[in-house]
Amino acid sequence: ADTKVYRASTFAPVNIAVIKYWGKRDAKLNLPTNSSLSVTLSQDDLRTHTTASCSPAYQSDSLLLNGASQDISGARTQACLRELRSLRKTLEDSDSSLSPLSTYPLEIVSQNNFPTAAGLASSAAGFAALVRAIANLYQLKSTPTELSRIARQGSGSACRSLFGGYVAWEMGKEEDGSDSVAYEVAPASHWPEMRAIILVASAEKKDVSSTSGMQATVKTSTLFNERITNTVPKRMEEMKKAIAERDFASFAALTTKDSNSFHATCLDTDPPIFYMNDTSRAAIAMVEAINANAGKTIAAYTFDAGPNAVVYYLAEHETSVLAPFKAILQAKDGWEGARGQSVTSSPLPA
Ligand code: PMV
Repeated sequence: ADTKVYRASTFAPVNIAVIKYWGKRDAKLNLPTNSSLSVTLSQDDLRTHTTASCSPAYQSDSLLLNGASQDISGARTQACLRELRSLRKTLEDSDSSLSPLSTYPLEIVSQNNFPTAAGLASSAAGFAALVRAIANLYQLKSTPTELSRIARQGSGSACRSLFGGYVAWEMGKEEDGSDSVAYEVAPASHWPEMRAIILVASAEKKDVSSTSGMQATVKTSTLFNERITNTVPKRMEEMKKAIAERDFASFAALTTKDSNSFHATCLDTDPPIFYMNDTSRAAIAMVEAINANAGKTIAAYTFDAGPNAVVYYLAEHETSVLAPFKAILQAKDGWEGARGQSVTSSPLPA
């Protein structure tokens, strides 16, 4: 019997949105209620490494994350596997010299180089890596945008981790999600001075998952409708312009306002959702103080569905921005992980 093992590996980086995705119009396909825009961090810093293999000798599909076996029966993971297998099947049908990899069980082995439970957008890098590793294994000809349509079904934000630099996820109009895909707005090289620091306020798992939080906000928040119809569409255009012009003050104003708008709709959810805590608010006050002290905007904060702050700044202001944070971070103990309490990063080079 054929016991050959076919294998491919890839890395995918974390991305942090500056215009947030919050709300699904279709929960099954992960179709969003608004477009979003993110910065992909360097994969030297935060990334998932995934090896996908398949073999007729394997018993069933499996996924190992950081050495622990994961449940892959969930609809999201299954949707990704189904789509990738069907693309491979199309290739096999058109070329009889290809081995029937689409029929073999898959073994996926993933490793994050950062604490998975720390709320550091691990699902984005995770699904992007999973989709690309299998696409490589299957030798699919798909473009990153085509793969983003598949990764989106694993975790919405994952569609943006298939690109480096500045990435937009267009919400799309189609019911089947065929136009709800990510594309590159600008490569990292367009604005090489951009930096990010992640301040780990808590390494605990978030208590309201992004999926259930979004559903509750869509259902109960009245602020939310204003956000998706007026606020975000306008900001998407302004953010693309700020990036095109390398206008940090505008980039920063839009980033912090959009984070606060997203967290405001969380507070406006019934029952209210609090992702930020006292440490998060202290980080906001610190960024305000840094900017006031500089006499101009040199730092911008943003928070995802958790208390950790991501602060964007330009390399020339590294000392002014990082020094005040180092002082608070060192005052605390009990932090875990090789990188301690914070992680600095630059956008992924294209
Ligand atoms: O991709 P999900 O389902 O984990 O949702 C991510 C939601 C936010 O991180 C809060 C915003 C975003 O655009 O990444």
